[in-house]
Amino acid sequence: MTEKRIAIFDTTLRDGEQSPGCSMYLEEKISMARQLERLGVDVIEAGFPFASEGDFRSVVAVANECRETTIAGLCRTVASDIHRAAEALKTAKRSRIHTFVATSDIHLEYKLKKSRAEVVDMAASAVKLASENADEVEFSAEDATRSDVDFLCEVFSAAVESGAKVLNVPDTVGYTLPSEYANLIATVKERVVGDKDVAISVHCHNDLGLAVANSLAAVEAGASQVECTVNGIGERAGNASLEELIMAIAVRSDKMPYRSNIDTTQLYPASQLLSSIVSFGVQPNKAIVGRNAFAHEAGIHQHGVLSNPLCYEIMTPESVGVPKNSIVLGKHSGRHALESRYQALGFDLNDAQIAEIYPRFVALADRKKNVYDQDLLALAPVRNPTAIAA
Ligand code: KIV
Ligand code: ZN
Repeated sequence: MTEKRIAIFDTTLRDGEQSPGCSMYLEEKISMARQLERLGVDVIEAGFPFASEGDFRSVVAVANECRETTIAGLCRTVASDIHRAAEALKTAKRSRIHTFVATSDIHLEYKLKKSRAEVVDMAASAVKLASENADEVEFSAEDATRSDVDFLCEVFSAAVESGAKVLNVPDTVGYTLPSEYANLIATVKERVVGDKDVAISVHCHNDLGLAVANSLAAVEAGASQVECTVNGIGERAGNASLEELIMAIAVRSDKMPYRSNIDTTQLYPASQLLSSIVSFGVQPNKAIVGRNAFAHEAGIHQHGVLSNPLCYEIMTPESVGVPKNSIVLGKHSGRHALESRYQALGFDLNDAQIAEIYPRFVALADRKKNVYDQDLLALAPVRNPTAIAA
């Protein structure tokens, strides 16, 4: 069976970063971008360059740093936004301008105060300008899932005629259901894309806890790019979680014959690194990367797992990069053990940083029997107060 290739568009540094408690300094964005590249994402959406000087600088920095990955910058369908994004992306190995406008009646009436005809014109002229200023253009119809489907197809068709290579169908408010979303994707595929060289992307929010399920249903219906974030961070209840999506595909390849470029062993390090940057970690029972995701408490489960892990485990901790024996660090551990645990957690610390952390680690280990990954995150280099806020 031939496997369908799914492109992973990571928006941790844009949709994720714009949510409460998730703002990041420039250096933090760069280290997260490096980890996303190690993970193997196809596109890194590095920010919204027109939104602030900090966002502009982070897109420039990520474009300079990540040479294997397409770098995207978000903009409204406004010429000044597009010029600013093009400027930020000019050194990217491959640049993508991601331009969006809302298409639902409620957004047109109350937010944009525009007619449908005006929105079609805005989309077409923005995509045309963007295609003259970047390697490729993605067009998003914000609130697509609450838009009139005929109008949605009209806007998408105008975007394709103007040069869009990716059409994104966002479930901006996390409202849709898997079967409904699959139908919408199939309609866009049939009525707009046909045999053209244009990809359909999906971008799901998690307000009803359905972001990953909706994304998977959309892939089955014809989408070939999925937008997601590490730990599922993002506006309100967040975006589709990258690690959940990837592991669902990996574990259920019998039903979902898809492949991506993701190295699953980098999922846990990516999650840990992000937790150390933003102001909250993941809940203990979070799928794939939560502290309890592979913990077995009940005696009957422990017995089963000891006899054969497959009794209660559908994937191994190692397959997602959870370090073995995650509680062995104590006051007798040396610098090498400490450094290697930090590496497993996604940190690339230099000798000076290890030398600075080590005495604090020993002092902590003196007070606590075991030093856990969460403790190491707390000891990790603090935000540089002189860093530029993004
Ligand atoms: O949720 C949304 O609609 C977005 C768009 C800008 C793609 O984030
Ligand atoms: Zn979004």
